[in-house]
Amino acid sequence: MILLDEIRTLLRDARSVAVLTGAGVSAESGIATFRDDDGLWSRFKVEDLATPEAFARDPKFVWQWYDSRRVDIAKAKPNAGHFALAELERRVPNFTLITQNIDDLHDEAGSRNVLKVHGSIWTLRCTVCSHERRDRTAPLPDLPPKCDCGAYLRPGVVWFGELLPQDVWRQAEFAAVTADVFLVIGTSAVVFPAASLAGVARDAGAKVVEINIAETPISGRIDAFLKGRSAQLLPQLVA
Ligand code: OAD
Repeated sequence: MILLDEIRTLLRDARSVAVLTGAGVSAESGIATFRDDDGLWSRFKVEDLATPEAFARDPKFVWQWYDSRRVDIAKAKPNAGHFALAELERRVPNFTLITQNIDDLHDEAGSRNVLKVHGSIWTLRCTVCSHERRDRTAPLPDLPPKCDCGAYLRPGVVWFGELLPQDVWRQAEFAAVTADVFLVIGTSAVVFPAASLAGVARDAGAKVVEINIAETPISGRIDAFLKGRSAQLLPQLVA
């Protein structure tokens, strides 16, 4: 296992760094995670809210939930972990931030090369003509919102049972394969295919470092596990 100082050196010397973030990075901005004890999936059922079938059954119910999350996320601000990753990007020649988060807080913190593998809650996408628009109104005035073509708009996020946006996913795989250092931060590493990226990076020769408040299924198979809060440890890594 390698220590904080050694990870700092690895990051300083790296030509290419890729980072995978999950809900834990936004937890300290006040946004609920999914699988922690108080997480969203302990209170709500995935199959009622985050599948194409749920939306087909009851689009208003699904939208009410996403709209309430939009209201919560609209109040959130990036935290020290988000800012540290934006700072790291400015120092590394090739830097890719792959996020499962749909809150856009990495962009707000100043990160530029962000791959949103699960989409964005601020994008609305037509269920028929595929027209997309960005809309930060929260709450939305009428649910479900409608496209100019008359069909329902849906949240621009990936639901269970759906493919990830393929162009974004290919870029994420490329970043993992070409990384000298791969950071996995604040994710339970159980949702695939995003969870596979650490292994992809490791097999291709990257040093893989995980930051989390608790161990995950990948913790034993990587180069370093840093136990702690991302908003505390990331600024220390980048300092
Ligand atoms: P999870 O809720 O599954 O996992 C959050 C992880 O963050 C856990 O491993 C926590 O231990 C860790 N954590 C919590 N607070 C932390 C902190 N302050 N610092 C560091 N780590 C912390 O969230 P994700 O792994 O992001 O997908 O979930 C993956 C996907 O499952 C989401 O993108 C979403 C969800 O269902 C879709 O909706 C498609």
